[in-house]
Amino acid sequence: VNEATADIGVIGLAVMGENLILNMASKGFTVAAFNRTTSKVDDFVTGRARGQTILGADDLPTFVSLLKKPRKVMLMVKAGPAVDAFIEMLAPLLDEGDIIIDGGNTHFPDTVRREKALAEKNILFVGAGVSGGEEGALKGPSIMPGGNAKAWPELKPIFQKIAAQVGGQPCCDWVGEGGAGHFVKMVHNGIEYADMQMISEAYSLLSGALGLGAPEIGAIFDEWNKGELDSYLIEITAEILRKVDDETGKPMVDVILDTAGQKGTGKWTSVTALDVGAPANTIAEAVFARILSALKDQRVEASKVLRGPDAQDAPDHDVFVEQVRRALYASKICSYAQGFQMMELAAAEYGWTLDFGSIAQMWRGGCIIRAAFLDKIKAAFGSNKALPNLLLDAYFTQAIQESQMAWRQVVAAAALRGVWTPAFSSALAYYDGYRSERLSANILQAQRDYFGAHTYERVDKPRGEFFHTNWTGRG
Ligand code: NAP
Ligand code: ATR
Repeated sequence: VNEATADIGVIGLAVMGENLILNMASKGFTVAAFNRTTSKVDDFVTGRARGQTILGADDLPTFVSLLKKPRKVMLMVKAGPAVDAFIEMLAPLLDEGDIIIDGGNTHFPDTVRREKALAEKNILFVGAGVSGGEEGALKGPSIMPGGNAKAWPELKPIFQKIAAQVGGQPCCDWVGEGGAGHFVKMVHNGIEYADMQMISEAYSLLSGALGLGAPEIGAIFDEWNKGELDSYLIEITAEILRKVDDETGKPMVDVILDTAGQKGTGKWTSVTALDVGAPANTIAEAVFARILSALKDQRVEASKVLRGPDAQDAPDHDVFVEQVRRALYASKICSYAQGFQMMELAAAEYGWTLDFGSIAQMWRGGCIIRAAFLDKIKAAFGSNKALPNLLLDAYFTQAIQESQMAWRQVVAAAALRGVWTPAFSSALAYYDGYRSERLSANILQAQRDYFGAHTYERVDKPRGEFFHTNWTGRG
């Protein structure tokens, strides 16, 4: 008979699972480990886990018997059928009040479904977004748990201890009911897509308009990283731009093919934005940008036929570099505004209560989008929990105000030079749309009424009263 001494058990000994277990053990927890291919358990226990408070199990009943009650089982397996397969095998081995956590990149509707099904068996299910890759998992990830709230008091001491810490606070807190944790992780990835795309656009502007090479742009990014753009993604991009290819002696980025892959989380974010009626156009634009980049063969052919504008004079170096920095910051603010606005609309749609200041703290460290600027977002929602849009917080209103002429000049310069900047341009379109008291949708309503009798409201009558015009005079 095994002694139930493990504080938590983790299933899935790939990159994330192994590193999370080592992280947990290093923080004083005893961890049981299991993997579908059990040879990996033996390799792990005799290898990286050697000498630590990590207990390997060769079968699931043994694994479960090692866990203290209420049992906590964390799945770090490939999202999809693997999660369902393990839940099905685990459920008969667990007791009421035991907890299953899915730490994978699961699409949130799957979490909603699993949480409901397991609640009927009184098993507490939690879907936790975990971000930070291999290093984050080992040293402190961002963890976004949501689901059955009864599980949180049991998980809190473990999760908040293994998570990244910033400003003396963990980058982990309870997100909300149902699929809220995985939803917030998904939005994180959507924002990450936009951040990555905008940094790439800054690179192509500096290279296209100023003719700078990769190392020079890397040095500029290093400078930017000391100011309001201070972030993990700017930091690693500076490092990436300095890297030289051993084979050719050229900058690495110059030999990397310009076609982006994707695993789908940005697409999920964009589809969900459409579902909940959120204008997350910059996030969606970043997904379309990857899709367009992947049409390499067509682009090569089109480049022989479709002409861009005539060459323009190079702008002043120092002025333009600063303008691009400001354009990047303003665009970034808009994409985060879209992400938070989307979370607010989704919370209303799905019945979650989300604390946006707390979400900003969860993203402050450990994850890919970690950035100093998240402190400003945390402060914005800290002082006004019901803030309808980040752009309306005094700090961000002012930041955009200070940057907007530079931003407009950069977007104009890109258009005149034919430099592809979909995220910068769409962020500006979001800003100009959101700040417009009157948009051109009056024309759309008139068109809809003309061809389909869809009716319209009038500016001089109360909202909710609908009118129809006989546009053609015909009966
Ligand atoms: P992974 O490559 O996504 O998954 C490998 C693990 O899943 C192995 O333990 C594997 O077991 C198990 N598995 C796969 N198919 C299975 C099936 N049908 N039945 C049972 N087990 C199955 O591993 P990972 O990269 O460590 O990621 C784990 C989760 O975290 C994923 O959801 C991933 O999206 C998410 N995530 C990853 C990262 C990252 O940077 N890698 C970052 C954040 C989140 P076998 O050894 O038996 O094949
Ligand atoms: P984390 O939680 O640590 O952010 P992740 O969500 O698994 O880790 O992925 C990190 C980032 O790497 C994501 O933006 C991911 O984009 P996709 O969701 O589109 O894949 C990106 N990424 C991972 N594999 C990729 C690939 N083969 N090509 C391009 N981007 C990739």
